[in-house]
Amino acid sequence: MKQVYMETFGCQMNVADTDRMELLLFQSGYLRTAHVEDADLVLVNTCSIREKAEQKVFSLFGGLKPLKQANPDLILGVAGCLAQQEQSALMARMPYLDFIIGPDAVESIQHIVHRIHQGEGPVVWTEFDARKNYSIPEQPLVKDSGPSAFVNIIKGCDKFCSFCVVPYTRGREKSREAGEIYAEIRQWVDHGAKEIILLGQNVNAYGKRGLDHPVAFHELLYGIAEIEGVERLRFTTSHPMDFTRELIQAYCDIDILMNHLHLPVQSGSNRILELMRRSHTIEWYLDLIAQLKSEVPDIALSTDVIVGFPGETRQEFEDTLKLMEQVGFNNSYMFAYSPRPNTPALDMVDDIPHEEKQERLQETIQLQNRLTEENGRAFLGREVEVLIENVTSRKGMSFKGRNPHYWSVVFKGGEDCLKPGDVTRVRVEEISGHVLRGSWAGQ
Ligand code: SAH
Ligand code: SF4
Ligand code: F3S
Repeated sequence: MKQVYMETFGCQMNVADTDRMELLLFQSGYLRTAHVEDADLVLVNTCSIREKAEQKVFSLFGGLKPLKQANPDLILGVAGCLAQQEQSALMARMPYLDFIIGPDAVESIQHIVHRIHQGEGPVVWTEFDARKNYSIPEQPLVKDSGPSAFVNIIKGCDKFCSFCVVPYTRGREKSREAGEIYAEIRQWVDHGAKEIILLGQNVNAYGKRGLDHPVAFHELLYGIAEIEGVERLRFTTSHPMDFTRELIQAYCDIDILMNHLHLPVQSGSNRILELMRRSHTIEWYLDLIAQLKSEVPDIALSTDVIVGFPGETRQEFEDTLKLMEQVGFNNSYMFAYSPRPNTPALDMVDDIPHEEKQERLQETIQLQNRLTEENGRAFLGREVEVLIENVTSRKGMSFKGRNPHYWSVVFKGGEDCLKPGDVTRVRVEEISGHVLRGSWAGQ
């Protein structure tokens, strides 16, 4: 068999896209390799959410050029959001590329590679296709899933936050038919998955329009809970504006829905939120959190935060810190604002100096570290339930997994009777950063 080397940047949706391309390429006779020097095909799935993500791709390709020079038959392709956004710039900078394809071409990867084999010159495929929606072919999966499987339920985004490239790189929202999602989940469960993580840039916009059989997001969750063998259910990411009362109720009703919610807030200032076009206020967000906490008291919350948005004053930045403290997030993904092509925020002056953005970022990170530790302390001395994901290389520890609140847990003991995919109990003895460490507490 020929060999394909694949590398993925960006979010979990890109990871899931790479997995689908792996499956399709397997059917075309390619086996995935971890060694780029053995590859007949190199496929890099790219991200363009921030400038840094873009730079990583260019430096990777700098290293690939000599391989192509040494072996002209090597096929080099770029997929994903950067490819969608910067097709001509990529081709100009790397004329040796064989193909450049956007996220909507993932399902056509076999056809594209076939065209290259037929001797066609560089193939560029970046049209949006409103019919495509992350279907996977009804073929057996290439490999076992591991304990946790990602399942795309909606593609694209219609929110157009002023800083964000996603609506331009992934196009308009399109949900998958529920029946197809259930079928894919059954397939993953048959291949060993215990936990299903539903994916989309905005999962709770699921089902709003365009489905032959309309199903709302919370109804989809109830449907998945009926599938035998699914032991844990999660979803990411949700937009506060699409968060419904029914979804809060789903947390109360569905045992396998884990008590964790990632709900990006981006800023603690109403003025900045408006400039970001997030379409809600801080008061509204806090009210939603209060409702959720009153129904689901031990829910763990995480968020995304951007610092240094155009015009953000010191006071507005401090409002973000205040909000983080008020909610007491278990975890935050924190970013310095990065101007992106095509986005409306490009019309605003990116006036916060780089050093100031970095300082603000460090302050948020420090605050979050403290909040994480405070939240972690609540687990000390307690037993938590862990889905084992893998054997860990951490010194003296045996296994690594996650608890329902989405904390990483490493623990020692149980080597003789435990394996990845098992759910077991662990006594937490220590917190180390974002990781809980402990000992096996028996079955
Ligand atoms: N759909 C998700 C976000 C996906 S992008 C949501 O709305 O919740 C992941 C995160 O990257 C965003 O939440 C935001 O915090 C960050 N991000 C997006 N564009 C950015 C930019 N131009 N500069 C800095 N951070 C950005
Ligand atoms: Fe980007 Fe906003 Fe859509 Fe999230 S909701 S993907 S931040 S446009
Ligand atoms: Fe990046 Fe595209 Fe995901 S821009 S974050 S890979 S949707």
